[in-house]
Amino acid sequence: MAVNTDEPEYWRSAQQWVDYQDLLDLLLQPVLDRLLVEAELQPGQRVLDIGCGTGASTMAAARQVGETGHVTGADISGLMLDHARKRTAQAGLDRINYIEGDAQTHGFAEAGYDHVISRFGVMFFADPVAAFRNILKPLKPGGQMVFLAWSGPAQNPWFAIPAQAAMDVLGKPEPSDPRAPGPMAFQERDYVDSILNNAGWHAVEISEIALELTPKGSVADIAAFATRLGPASRIIKDKGGTEADTKRIEETVAENMAAFDTEKGVRVPAMLNLVRARR
Ligand SMILES: C[S@@+](CC[C@H](N)C(=O)[O-])C[C@H]1O[C@@H](n2cnc3c(N)ncnc32)[C@H](O)[C@@H]1O
Repeated sequence: MAVNTDEPEYWRSAQQWVDYQDLLDLLLQPVLDRLLVEAELQPGQRVLDIGCGTGASTMAAARQVGETGHVTGADISGLMLDHARKRTAQAGLDRINYIEGDAQTHGFAEAGYDHVISRFGVMFFADPVAAFRNILKPLKPGGQMVFLAWSGPAQNPWFAIPAQAAMDVLGKPEPSDPRAPGPMAFQERDYVDSILNNAGWHAVEISEIALELTPKGSVADIAAFATRLGPASRIIKDKGGTEADTKRIEETVAENMAAFDTEKGVRVPAMLNLVRARR
């Protein structure tokens, strides 16, 4: 089986995640809302946001902890952090700092944070036990981590539809380990539980939750976006797909996404793993 070790390189050059930041944040707003409900951040707290990307969750957390609190966003992608810094400055938020580094190995200051949070930012580590051992250190004793991860491709049409469309046109990618670093690496709840226990975390609780993703625009717009980012884009890149292949994939994605078109716009059901643990 192929083990994907390309994640750091993928994220360091993830220009499409910057270009589509506004659409991504609209798509994933319900995920952020749920993360914040679960984390229950309080004014004055210090928060570490792992894999913060372009900073949506970092800025939202900063608004919750207020003038007396502080949020650090940590990410491996300087490209995405540049965008996060710009947005943070534009929003006039000054109780935020960003750290560029691999959260698996970065030397975070000891016991500085009340909370660790992450929206989809912790599934990409080469060695997850080492990474979560490292992320434990900057948390105060008793401090809490809450993160959300995808629960599996079959339960997530946002993933399954573009992936299937790309495979129909370009063929299947090489089989890979479902636990290999990547967006679906934390689909098995027992596996995530063992990672966190082995990394020294306590009171680990993992549950599967359902919500609806809220992509904006017409079905055609959404299909274009879903094809240029995520699993279809990875298959297109690996297989050397052409612009004509991409168009064909996009058409199939549009046909299948139409099933989720409602009066309120496109609503895509999603299943996620909600993970909670303490130092
Ligand atoms: C799916 S994106 C999520 C971004 C952001 N949390 C959001 O919801 O918009 C995954 C993020 O994890 C970051 N990432 C991947 N591997 C990482 C690592 N080893 N250390 C820190 N960040 C990492 C990527 O650069 C990317 O920003």
